Amino acid sequence: MRQQIAAANWKMNLTYQQGEELLDAILPATAGLNEHQRAIFAVPAPYLQMAVKKTDDYAKAFVAAQNFHDKKAGAYTGEISADMLHSIHVTYVVLGHSERREYFGESNAFLAAKVTTAIQEYITPIFCCGEPLPVREQGNQNEFVRVQLEESLFHLSAEQMERVVIAYEPIWAIGTGVTASTAQAQEMHAYIRSVLADKYGAATAEKVSILYGGSVKAANAAELFACPDVDGGLVGGASLVAEEFKVIIGALK
Ligand code: PGA
Repeated sequence: MRQQIAAANWKMNLTYQQGEELLDAILPATAGLNEHQRAIFAVPAPYLQMAVKKTDDYAKAFVAAQNFHDKKAGAYTGEISADMLHSIHVTYVVLGHSERREYFGESNAFLAAKVTTAIQEYITPIFCCGEPLPVREQGNQNEFVRVQLEESLFHLSAEQMERVVIAYEPIWAIGTGVTASTAQAQEMHAYIRSVLADKYGAATAEKVSILYGGSVKAANAAELFACPDVDGGLVGGASLVAEEFKVIIGALK
């Protein structure tokens, strides 16, 4: 069975102390997860080491960086390298979040380089894709997402592709309280899997976890995760509330 994942994306929120409290409140809820399930916490960079330390006691809890740089080292003021993450035992990185694409100009080609670095360095990329509202309104969402996948992931080998986690996050659903319907989520997730199958074969496509993101909360997580091609969620706002995220972890199939 594919990994079922509840991933928290704290974005630029919480103080260090609030982050500690939140992890302390949530982590015990990961103790009940099985071998196919995990919780991942994408915390702000200054909290990564603290989060790694706290999750050490929980076999099903992992830490992700929210971003990193594709270059190995050098004169890139303000950036974080894969080696740095490795050295503090961070095993996941979120790449291509729509906020990085929109506010920091990250292109599909730039993200392809980051994906390569992540794979080479054995840090699992949680690769985000998803269309803006006008694209959805025109019915062109499949084409839009397919190009994102092709331009940022399809240089990978099948073996490498199996080490990628994909998060489908329709931009119109992020932070808006508007969630994709289960039908919309399942339809896109099945489409993404079919695109992977066309390129890499069905066996590889079946192994890739595809998370849904966009206003996932305690009240809708179980219904979304029950969709056959939805393998969990990437959660922003609701991941900042212990009681919400604990329910979301419990909703994994
Ligand atoms: P949201 O954010 O859950 O607050 O909509 C999701 C995300 O941006 O990953």
